[in-house]
Amino acid sequence: MDKPRPRSLRILLGVTGGIAAYKCPDLVRRLRERGAEVQVVMTAGASRFITALTLQAVSGRPVRDSLWDEAAEAAMGHIELARWADAVLVAPATADFLAKLGHGRADGLLSTLCLATAAPLYLAPAMNQQMWANPATAANVALLRDRGATILGPGEGDQACGETGPGRMLEPDQLAELTLSRLSAKRVLAGRKVVVSAGPTRERLDPVRFISNRSSGKMGYAVAQAARDAGATVVLVSGPVGISPPSGVEFVAVESAQQMHEAVHRALADADIYIGAAAVADYQARAIAAQKIKKSSDSMQLELVKAPDILASVAALKSGRPFVVGFAAETENIEENARAKLVRKRADMIAANLVGDGLGFDRDDNSLLVLWAGGREEIASCVKPELARRLVTLIAEVHGSQRRPGTVAAVRG
Ligand code: PMT
Repeated sequence: MDKPRPRSLRILLGVTGGIAAYKCPDLVRRLRERGAEVQVVMTAGASRFITALTLQAVSGRPVRDSLWDEAAEAAMGHIELARWADAVLVAPATADFLAKLGHGRADGLLSTLCLATAAPLYLAPAMNQQMWANPATAANVALLRDRGATILGPGEGDQACGETGPGRMLEPDQLAELTLSRLSAKRVLAGRKVVVSAGPTRERLDPVRFISNRSSGKMGYAVAQAARDAGATVVLVSGPVGISPPSGVEFVAVESAQQMHEAVHRALADADIYIGAAAVADYQARAIAAQKIKKSSDSMQLELVKAPDILASVAALKSGRPFVVGFAAETENIEENARAKLVRKRADMIAANLVGDGLGFDRDDNSLLVLWAGGREEIASCVKPELARRLVTLIAEVHGSQRRPGTVAAVRG
């Protein structure tokens, strides 16, 4: 069966109110020429310089300009729009808009989207050279850069105001090239299929009780999103959690270890990589009581039997075996225990985390020790989306070098 073709890159182009907005139809064309899908969002100021109709005609999509447009929100709400984008490019980005972003304002559709998106942010400043040189603008730009935004330009030269100096928006062709090439460089899993398991499993005891654990799904969902952002086709198999799956991934909801086992194996057709971030039960009830278990004596015994070990079963596949990445949740001797798990389960890589007492489970941040044959890397504590991005980059690197034998040790020896 043919592999799914990588889909087009989706660029959300934010146009703010600067004279350089007149170059945006050309920018949309240059992005589309290079195969990108473009959704334009413009501010009220931008519409003083360029009409929505022109941008709609060149982008082939209705332009969005208001947070309060009920019809548009019903079709693709602003959060959906924020999730749709592989990258947000704001061009031109005025001094006012940079200040807004620096302060985390959400007073319009574009600023709200910039806050709500997990996609990389590219900013193409355009303003008078004195405004660009002003320490307030410089501080805003430095802040945004520190937070991960990429600043494209500005260029130098004659300005619309009659002055000469830095502050011109880069030319559309250059902006399209820089945005798409930088974005493609991040797409280290383009054309790959990745199956991710996440969340806890629930092992039923009777119609109202189950055995489970404290996994919130945050880690696994962040991994699925990072793999999607890296260009992979992603299937996310998840136990019951209280968070929404990232958009653009195929989602399979399960409850028990047995269901997760079956769903993962079904999803594995043509998969390149399996990442087991789920906290799967090791044991399940030998028999599920048909009726609620009665409180009949002072103590009771539950008979548990081993649940299927999904990770080990994927690693043991004789044909169609993907690159197998496990997690190891450890309360002590993290490296020794994780290394033993890597070998015992025959995984290709294991990402170990310390758990217990405010660590690992149901937290927004975490740290990982990643081990594989011939390599190890520590990823210091950070928020799970960032941690997942770094893990996915590492997985792509090691998986890629194992497909080119002889290069693994050279990459990270
Ligand atoms: O969901 P969060 O709240 O964000 O928390 C994240 C996390 C702590 C759950 C996550 O980072 C993590 O460590 N996941 C793995 C938890 C776990 O089950 O670890 P383990 O050491 O018991 O298992 C080792 C590996 O075997 C894991 O890849 C696990 O998915 C897999 N396994 C375990 C048991 C089983 N029956 N089948 C499996 O596939």
